[in-house]
Amino acid sequence: MTSAAPAPAATPGTTPSATPAIAAIAYHDGEFVPLERAQVPVTTQALQYGTGVFEGIRAYAQHDGGLAVFRGHDHYLRLLRSARTLRIEVGHDAAQLTGLTAELLRRTGSTGDVYIRPLAYKRALLPGTPPGVQLQGVSDALSINAFRMGSYTDRGGISCAISSWRRPQSDTLPVRAKVTGGYVNNALAVDEARAGGHQDAILLNSRGQVAEASTSNVFAVIGGRLVTPPVTADLLEGITRDTVITLAADLLDTRTDQRDLGREDLLQADEVFLTGTGSEIVPVIGIAGRTIGSGSPGPLTTALMTAYHDVVRGRHSRYHHWLQAVGSAEA
Ligand SMILES: Cc1ncc(COP(=O)(O)O)c(C=O)c1O
Repeated sequence: MTSAAPAPAATPGTTPSATPAIAAIAYHDGEFVPLERAQVPVTTQALQYGTGVFEGIRAYAQHDGGLAVFRGHDHYLRLLRSARTLRIEVGHDAAQLTGLTAELLRRTGSTGDVYIRPLAYKRALLPGTPPGVQLQGVSDALSINAFRMGSYTDRGGISCAISSWRRPQSDTLPVRAKVTGGYVNNALAVDEARAGGHQDAILLNSRGQVAEASTSNVFAVIGGRLVTPPVTADLLEGITRDTVITLAADLLDTRTDQRDLGREDLLQADEVFLTGTGSEIVPVIGIAGRTIGSGSPGPLTTALMTAYHDVVRGRHSRYHHWLQAVGSAEA
């Protein structure tokens, strides 16, 4: 997953998102190897046809020390669901994958905020399989790498375009799976938005309703109610989306309506924000050249940002089950 905002500013004490791995180690083909050995041949099926699935996971430095992976188990459950769609055998269950991730972070010596990128993909034709676009008769592979990445969210808010690229519908692409090839759509949308001077794109679905942003889900505050499009709006069911719905209900006594939103709803909203593992919670203060709300992050957005950052840093014991401690190398 990439940043919604251009050239994001790094959080003090962290390196910018483009910086490579901490100690450059990856879990690749069943072993921990130096990152430079985690290579794929040019004949890799996923490289040619986009037949890979991936996740973006964050680990956060905790307020009382140590590092913890945020909702890693949920991300790996989604990876396994995505993999099933493409007939990719990951070879590990979610518990084993979270264990491998913790081990990777220990080996890299990570102590600050980290972004973790698991990728399961179609690799090579099995003996006897003729060349061609196919999912069966092709071997599978798994790779996980991690690199240091602090918050890059522009907390003052970003501007979004409404993309001319529509989000594909689920009988065109499995949009609820996080499939590498599908991200051509997202990349084109971001490219168009940035060429127009915006930081991110909001994509409508084939019915003209709001689907999501390039790598985030969309929320709006309309008439005092928190609203987000339903999963049937051809969006990726974000884990941050679920976190925000939960925190809004538990901590802010605010229920989220899941209903279709039109472009007009967003333009007239009091607040709009995006949610994603990488981007966290980003206020949207402009859409398609219109100012949203007061033109600065609204009260509900701000309260949710505070709650989210407290939760991921381990300040709320109620949500400790979402945090998996990495532990030290000696542990
Ligand atoms: C297309 C798309 N939508 C939404 C999201 C937000 O999902 P999550 O909150 O699980 O990171 C992402 C990020 O993975 C994404 O790539």
